[in-house]
Amino acid sequence: MTLLKIARMGHPVLRRAARAVAEPTDPAIARLAGDMVETMLDAGGVGLAAPQVYRDLRVIALRAPAASAPAADAESEPPATVLINPWLAAIGDEVLLGLEGCLSIPGWRGVVPRHARIRYGGVTLDGRTVDGEAEGFPARVLQHEIDHLDGVLFLDRMPDLTLLGVDEEAHHLPALARDRSAPETGSARPAQEDNPQ
Ligand code: NI
Repeated sequence: MTLLKIARMGHPVLRRAARAVAEPTDPAIARLAGDMVETMLDAGGVGLAAPQVYRDLRVIALRAPAASAPAADAESEPPATVLINPWLAAIGDEVLLGLEGCLSIPGWRGVVPRHARIRYGGVTLDGRTVDGEAEGFPARVLQHEIDHLDGVLFLDRMPDLTLLGVDEEAHHLPALARDRSAPETGSARPAQEDNPQ
């Protein structure tokens, strides 16, 4: 396993749509995924997408357990899930605001609206097809990571950049978002203080 360098915002690799993986069971993909998981855990992230490590491929690693992830036993390291060629679709119209950060945007966090519930899928490293539903934190992480595969960063999803802050002040942001959204936001409501990467 190798720790990989993480691309930071401004590098064009983060702004390109990544290519679909033709052979999910290719050992080279397993090596990349293993390195991505190690890099994600080392960096303290809960998700990492291949473009963040300069690889133009539709591969994501997640630490937030997706609905279909096998339960990790208590003694093992934090559970990590790898999805190849992942996709998602919103279930319903509910949108939640939540705090996000990104390993490619170190030092900054922002309040981002995301679908509350999604259907998602992809392929595992052993070639198994995944098709599940997620809500709350796992749904947020999946949306953040799959966005990376299309060159989209969490900042692009923020309609209100006043809800962007530096790490040390980010604990203020959920309350600020609540104040902002109270009178008139319709379905968007603050409910989470999450931190995908
Ligand atoms: Ni990110």
